[in-house]
Amino acid sequence: MRVLITGGTGLIGRALCRALTARGDQLTVLSRHPERVPALYGAGVQAWRTLDAWGAVTAFDAVINLAGEPIIDHRWSARQKAMLLASRVGTTERLVQHIAQRQRRPAVLISGSAIGIYGTGARQRFDETSPAGSDFPAQLCQQWEAAALAAADLGLRVVLLRTGLVLSDEGGLLQRVALPTRWGLGAILGDGRQWMSWIDIDDYVSAVLQLLDDTTASGPYNLVAPAPVTHETFVKAVARALHRPCLLRSPSWLLRRLLGERATLLTDGQQVLPTRLQARGFHFRYPRLTASLERRLGAGAS
Ligand SMILES: NC(=O)c1ccc[n+]([C@@H]2O[C@H](COP(=O)([O-])OP(=O)(O)OC[C@H]3O[C@@H](n4cnc5c(N)ncnc54)[C@H](OP(=O)(O)O)[C@@H]3O)[C@@H](O)[C@H]2O)c1
Repeated sequence: MRVLITGGTGLIGRALCRALTARGDQLTVLSRHPERVPALYGAGVQAWRTLDAWGAVTAFDAVINLAGEPIIDHRWSARQKAMLLASRVGTTERLVQHIAQRQRRPAVLISGSAIGIYGTGARQRFDETSPAGSDFPAQLCQQWEAAALAAADLGLRVVLLRTGLVLSDEGGLLQRVALPTRWGLGAILGDGRQWMSWIDIDDYVSAVLQLLDDTTASGPYNLVAPAPVTHETFVKAVARALHRPCLLRSPSWLLRRLLGERATLLTDGQQVLPTRLQARGFHFRYPRLTASLERRLGAGAS
């Protein structure tokens, strides 16, 4: 399969690109740093800085769209919110515009989104039929999804990846929690009762490949394991896996003061279920948190 991917240099994109190249798919990575791509995947993977490189004779079977400015790294000033939107919605709109101009269009667009689309909640369980929330992450995801769904009008199958907290040994949330925990500084944030809907990176990649290959798959899919846990359960499980204590607490008001509005990503969660993936018979290799943590923290746990 010939695949164009955005965000192919990121945490998820790297794992996905490795899996796609391993099975013989031909990749083109759209990146602000195309010079980094050969070092990641070898000279066989093409790298583009802009979509202007998409010539008349170049055709793709699939487009995977994961690009996005990291959401937790900077305070959500008006400027940063505009950047978060532009890097996702703007990139997606440009992709769809370029697809519209092609005579031979890809068959499928697999486009990023996040479980933040549901807003937050302590009691509800969210599946793909749940309504969208109203906070900034929910608005961001709705606009991101709407931009991708415009490709359906061009005849593409559109799959929306409502991504949960991806657990990887190469970075992301798990390593941010594990790092202080290794130093004995593991902490429960807020009241600890907020939900964390996580997914192991191997299951994430397998799910995307299944949704890519299965021509009957379309619409939103929650990419989360079937057993979400509370934040307190999560950080204590990480501490146990690393044989370290978790004794500290960081109250919500302090996080709000330090982080501003984005503290909601840490102090409020959502319990999300992979209802549509499971309905397709998707097999989770890591349905339980302990198994994923053992796999991802194994080396550091000794
Ligand atoms: N990891 C998670 O737990 C998680 C959870 C929910 C949703 N997601 C979403 O899934 C997508 C991939 O996640 P990830 O963890 O792999 O993210 P990541 O490691 O931060 O990588 C994001 C990618 O987006 C591109 N990018 C970053 N800032 C950009 C900007 N300002 N403009 C255009 N492109 C930009 C980068 O590509 P270049 O530098 O090569 O241009 C990078 O490869 C993201 O959109 C993220 O919001 C991730």
